[in-house]
Amino acid sequence: MNAEKNIAKVLIINGPNLNMLGKREPEIYGSTTLDDIDASMKKLGNEFGISVETFQSNSEGNIVGKIQEAMGICDAIIINPAAYTHTSVAIRDALLLHTLPIIEVHLSNIYKRESFRHKSLISDIATGQITGFGVYGYTMALETVNRLFKENKDLK
Ligand code: DQA
Repeated sequence: MNAEKNIAKVLIINGPNLNMLGKREPEIYGSTTLDDIDASMKKLGNEFGISVETFQSNSEGNIVGKIQEAMGICDAIIINPAAYTHTSVAIRDALLLHTLPIIEVHLSNIYKRESFRHKSLISDIATGQITGFGVYGYTMALETVNRLFKENKDLK
C-alpha cells in the first residue's frame, strides 16, 4: 500500500478508441460510455476505500508515460490497452517497471475474434487477464484487486 497516503491507489488505464465507447461498434462493445465506466469504478473504489484514478489515451507514448509516472505511487494497475494489446512492446516494457498486481481487461473475448487479436503482448507479464465480460470485467478487476489488498496477497 502507498505508505504516504495510507490508502490503496489503483490506476485504470484505457487505450485507443475506448473514449468512443457507446458509439463504437456497440454490438461488440456495448452501449456504456467510458465516462460511465470511470464513474462506476470510482464509486466502487469509494465503497472499498480505494482511491481510483482513471486515464485514457489514444497515444502509445502517453500511456507509457502514465505507467512510468505511476511508479511508487500506485498499488495496482488495471489496463485495457485496446489495440496496443496486440502490438505494443513499449507498453509491455513500461509495465515491466512495476512489481504491482497488473490486471489486463478486455470488454470483448479477444480469443473469439480475429486471429490478430488472439495474441496479447502483456498477458504473460500481467497478474491475470479478464476478457469477454463487457464492462463487468472492470468491476471484476477492481473486486479482485480489493481482495488482494484485504488479504495482503501479492500475486505478482
Ligand atoms: C479490446 C479488444 C482489442 O482487440 C480492441 O482493439 C479494442 C478493445 C476490448 O476491450 O475488447 O480496442 O481491448
